[in-house]
Amino acid sequence: MASRRSADLLIASGAVLVNGHRPPPSGSLIDPERDLVTVHGRRVVPRPPSRYLAMNKPTGTLVTAADPRGRPTVFDLLGEAGAGRLFAVGRLDAATAGLLLLTDDGELAYRLSHPRYKVPKEYVAVVRGIPDRRDLEVLRRGVELEDGPTLPAEAELLDGGTGRARVRLVIVEGRNRQVRRMLAAVGHPVEGLTRTAVGPVRLRHLRPGSWRRLRPSELTTLRAATGLIDEGGVRWRAAREP
Ligand code: URA
Repeated sequence: MASRRSADLLIASGAVLVNGHRPPPSGSLIDPERDLVTVHGRRVVPRPPSRYLAMNKPTGTLVTAADPRGRPTVFDLLGEAGAGRLFAVGRLDAATAGLLLLTDDGELAYRLSHPRYKVPKEYVAVVRGIPDRRDLEVLRRGVELEDGPTLPAEAELLDGGTGRARVRLVIVEGRNRQVRRMLAAVGHPVEGLTRTAVGPVRLRHLRPGSWRRLRPSELTTLRAATGLIDEGGVRWRAAREP
């Protein structure tokens, strides 16, 4: 209900009572399950812990709550685990497969999607033709798209064979159909696209259509990557940056 600093001020002002008593200025440790904490006489109830899920979205599945045409959605795949409010972090097109993070932590979802925080998203694309060094250089420096130039990206040719190649692309933005548009702009339309990582979270061996909870270490690294905790992982920032 308050940032750390505002909470300190509230406590110092005497507005906060623990089991009906003012806590000592040196602070006191409470058990949120048993102790009754009030602020200006109103009970403070701890928020339930947020949910953080990683799914391998199959192609053909939509990242939307419900589809009027009845096509399958990622929430159908989540079943009970998808109940309540969950944000998909950085949507994927119906035709794109791979890593989709879902959470009810709005602040983290916002930061992971915003280019300001430069969280890298890694994709592997199967493209028509074989990009040459010049194409890769254009992808790296930034491609002119109709909604403006893209930020610098990592681009790497993984392998190429008979008229097709696999390209690894790492971008820090999340514009609509961005990877498909970038590759089409350098003359290599995408035939298949998979997101393989979001920041420190990797798809690895998650089967298409299945999901798992994020590990605490992944969550800590995601929070650090978006500036929600300091490098050492200890101090929380109070508020969203302007
Ligand atoms: N870029 C795309 O073109 N499609 C996606 O689904 C994600 C990124």
